Amino acid sequence: MPFDVRPCRDREELGRAMYAIGQNFFGPPTEEQLDRWLRVLELERMHAAFEMGEIVGGAGAFTFDLSVPGGSLPCAGVTIVGTYPTHRRRGVLRSLMRTQLDDVHERGEPIAALWASEEPIYGRYGYGLASWAGEVSIRRDANAFARLLERRGQARFVSAEEARKLFPPVWEALCAERPGVFARSEAWWETRRLRIPDEEGANPRRFVALELDAGIRAYAIYRTRPSFEAGVPAGKLEVLEALGVNPQATAEIWRFLLDVDWIETVSASLLPPDHPLLLLLAYPRRACYRLSDALWVRLVDVGAALSGRAYAHDGSVVFEVRDEFCPWNEGRWKLAGGVAARTDEPAELAVDVDALGSAYLGAVSFEQLRDALRVEQLVDGAAARADAMFAWRPLPWCPEIF
Ligand SMILES: CC(C)(COP(=O)(O)OP(=O)(O)OC[C@H]1O[C@@H](n2cnc3c(N)ncnc32)[C@H](O)[C@@H]1OP(=O)(O)O)[C@@H](O)C(=O)NCCC(=O)NCCS
Repeated sequence: MPFDVRPCRDREELGRAMYAIGQNFFGPPTEEQLDRWLRVLELERMHAAFEMGEIVGGAGAFTFDLSVPGGSLPCAGVTIVGTYPTHRRRGVLRSLMRTQLDDVHERGEPIAALWASEEPIYGRYGYGLASWAGEVSIRRDANAFARLLERRGQARFVSAEEARKLFPPVWEALCAERPGVFARSEAWWETRRLRIPDEEGANPRRFVALELDAGIRAYAIYRTRPSFEAGVPAGKLEVLEALGVNPQATAEIWRFLLDVDWIETVSASLLPPDHPLLLLLAYPRRACYRLSDALWVRLVDVGAALSGRAYAHDGSVVFEVRDEFCPWNEGRWKLAGGVAARTDEPAELAVDVDALGSAYLGAVSFEQLRDALRVEQLVDGAAARADAMFAWRPLPWCPEIF
């Protein structure tokens, strides 16, 4: 039996809906935490599931603009999804996803995106694995670059207030360069990226700006955990975010991070497979790059989503789309000249909507999906033809879990 789902009406409901996921990690949200959430999440975009008047689950969505190949689109950034442990596996999530996706559709957002806590959860609601990212752990004795780097810039520490002015243009350059990046509001920078959490009080995150060619061309946010073993430095440096607007700036900010004294290991995560660091390093194998799924994408409005991105090559392909959860997408779609429209022409690729979400940002090819039995090729060569259109470089990269 489906649960009643509606948007939260006040802070108190918001707190209880958020606590569905919080039950697994923290105490109930404090007033200060609720204040912060309300700066980035509209109350009416936090849905709560009710059983006999009690909140038993919640799911939120940020109002994002997400970069897609060749542009950006309105996107629901799905977040803080949870069911109270007392009510798990009784359909709470399904009820939440139903109401949330109907709401996203009504708002006219053609796509939704999320980070999945576990891989099997969201495919049934039409989300597909749409990008990859990996973590590295680089020891000091394997941190050399393969080619000598001529350093032309100067790194300097900046305060959070300065970072608020200096860092956003670098982030915006990434939005323009790669799919999968969401635009950050000022409130987002303040509450989610530059705020120093209480638990970091004694050893807070550091903000570094790289000045190069008369401007700020790169930045890094990192934390250190200094330690010594038998008198020998054994500290760790954790990169929270490091970005540059061009190859020189990216190389210089990473060289800075790798050379901090007293550090034995530098770790970073969420790096896309085509991140330049892997080829800057002389010993990429020893960085132990470990790949994982990153952003998942759902085409909420197939026609608007397919028409809303650019394509590497002109061409045409006819899809038979299956979408049980959002049946308004079902049927035959022809993509030609960068525009998707309904058609009666014979289908060339039969796809579940989650497979289309996987291919959307250019990280997963239709040939891969065909070989993994996720796409049915009805006409010889159709997958390769679609790939020539959908492929996109650089690969998508979402550097922050939301
Ligand atoms: C993940 C979570 C929200 C699922 O909620 P739920 O209310 O138990 O899910 P439902 O009862 O609606 O299940 C819907 C379907 O998903 C499946 N499912 C749910 N969670 C799953 C999981 N972790 N792994 C595999 N399948 C899962 C169910 O078996 C069910 O399948 P069916 O439709 O074939 O019967 C809940 O387990 C939870 O709060 N987990 C901890 C927090 C979390 O991981 N949140 C997600 C953040 S991205």
